[in-house]
Amino acid sequence: MLKPFAKPVYIIQPLLPDIDEFTKMIKIIWESNQLTNNGNMVKQLEGELSSFLGADYLSVFSNGTVALQLACKVLRLSGEVITTPFTFSATAHSLTWNNIKPVFCDILEDTFNINPDLIESQITEHTTAIMPVHVFGIPCDVEKIEQIANKHGLKVIYDAAHAFNVKINDSPIASFGDISMFSFHSTKIYHTIEGGALTFKDPYLKERADSLRNFGTRELDGFYEPGTNGKLNEIQAAVGILLLKQVGKEIARRKEITNLYRKLLDNVSGITLNRDIEYVTHNYPYFVIRVEKSEYGLSRDELYEKLKGYNIISRKYFYPLCSNFQCYKDIPSASKTTLPVANKIAETVLALPLHGRMVDSHVEKICAIIKYLGGRVI
Ligand SMILES: Cc1ncc(COP(=O)(O)O)c(C=O)c1O
Repeated sequence: MLKPFAKPVYIIQPLLPDIDEFTKMIKIIWESNQLTNNGNMVKQLEGELSSFLGADYLSVFSNGTVALQLACKVLRLSGEVITTPFTFSATAHSLTWNNIKPVFCDILEDTFNINPDLIESQITEHTTAIMPVHVFGIPCDVEKIEQIANKHGLKVIYDAAHAFNVKINDSPIASFGDISMFSFHSTKIYHTIEGGALTFKDPYLKERADSLRNFGTRELDGFYEPGTNGKLNEIQAAVGILLLKQVGKEIARRKEITNLYRKLLDNVSGITLNRDIEYVTHNYPYFVIRVEKSEYGLSRDELYEKLKGYNIISRKYFYPLCSNFQCYKDIPSASKTTLPVANKIAETVLALPLHGRMVDSHVEKICAIIKYLGGRVI
């Protein structure tokens, strides 16, 4: 009988900047007497992030959700936007907050991303854009999505909340679509405690986003449209500047842990693992397994509960499916019969603990417990 962990093993532990380096940055901010309103730290962070992410233009925001909401405003979207139900609530909610109807499209079984072959059948005269998500950092089929968008004159906003530093054949993920949104929430591989960014190819879009995050004010001619307060402050920007130096190491360690999980859980029947895609530079934001009760012996929900008993805090990521939320379940595209893959994936996926400070022995024990619970001799 394996013993539970003495203390909870959480799904994530935030990356923290070196405290001495952070103190130095705080002193600089104190001396500047500027805590917010597009100060030097925010400007420096925007410059460094746009180079790091290979973006032509980039703006930072107080969080990723506000950034997504403003991306819709910047592109003047209306009517209907086609998106995925297998995502965090903020994706669909950013549309609803703009009085746009989310239209849910089913996903692919292998990548969990929107199925591009089903997008065209969802397009109506009201459709203005597609909002796909690079789920768990795995890139969408960006080529097919671009072809569809060009054919129908639609905009594309990628929810790249999970895809920091991902590349497809050396092309940065930020180079696809009209706008990409990155979340810098502290549960992400790179963060500013709370925060987010939009990347653009068109400088006019950045100009509008910068105005909209600052109450719709433009320095030259005063208020010109109803904006909001989506500014990032100087202290959080300082965290972002420091963590940019550490994120490479964080991703490298996560890759090692992912490979250890893969080695130890390989060939456990009923447990399916994601594999790296050859032409993708991955960032390892989550370690996700799929649990098939008929082969493994326990359902995903049963495994989740049993792991809790061992002090292992996993997460049913994304469950429930957005299309099954009370607020969306009655729209026609949310029907379970039109989203069979997404409903199946949401019932079977489980994210296991993964962060750069995890030790190998914890991964080894978690895998031994998973094998034991599935009735494997270990
Ligand atoms: C896919 C996805 N989209 C949007 C968001 C919203 O980002 P934020 O938490 O920075 O508002 C998240 C956050 O976790 C997310 O996972």
